[in-house]
Amino acid sequence: MTQDELKDAVAAAAIAEIEPRLERDTILGIGTGSTANLFIDRLARLRDDFKGAVASSEASAERLRRHGIEVFELNSVGTVPFYIDGADEVNAHLHMIKGGGAALTREKIVAACAERFICIADASKRVERLGAFPLPVEVIPMARSYVARELVKLGADPVYREGVVTDNGNQIIDCFEFMIDDPVAMEARLNAIVGVVTNGLFAARGADVLLLGTEQGVERLTP
Ligand code: A5P
Repeated sequence: MTQDELKDAVAAAAIAEIEPRLERDTILGIGTGSTANLFIDRLARLRDDFKGAVASSEASAERLRRHGIEVFELNSVGTVPFYIDGADEVNAHLHMIKGGGAALTREKIVAACAERFICIADASKRVERLGAFPLPVEVIPMARSYVARELVKLGADPVYREGVVTDNGNQIIDCFEFMIDDPVAMEARLNAIVGVVTNGLFAARGADVLLLGTEQGVERLTP
């Protein structure tokens, strides 16, 4: 199977996971990226069975609306029963690195408001130790150089993602050469740097379920 076929298989598995729980007033949390896009496309077939969605990016909001799915502001919704999103890396504890698509801050906010986080990923995303994928850090623009210096002190090789402005008007630094032994502690350590808006470690609030697309089928994993 191609990587795209594996992504579509986990998108289908996520639909099967949530479909029995959909009610007319259900509002879902929806992630960002190519796997989330495949999920959105499948979700469109069920659009009369639920109320709408909260999106973690402008791109996902636009895709949802194109399918006729109503998009709500998170502040008017409160909590969502499910947040469905991809990952750049995921470990056995269902800690993740996210933000390859620069949507990490809104992703983390919607995930924080979700009763269950369902991570959908092809098998290439499964790792023993997080960090081979460069960890994204969203920063207030004027703090970029300061934050980069602090990241060097922590052992990272920070690289400014030039030309990228997040949906929140901020910038992204990617941390290369930054293998992470304790994702929960490192997530908190990075959050404590002044000027950091969010970092791409999703460990304090990891996923509750991982639907992993493999050649042998979709595996359903829990922490
Ligand atoms: C977006 O900012 C990311 O967190 C994505 O969820 C992550 O990069 C996975 O993307 P793909 O589904 O495109 O691999």
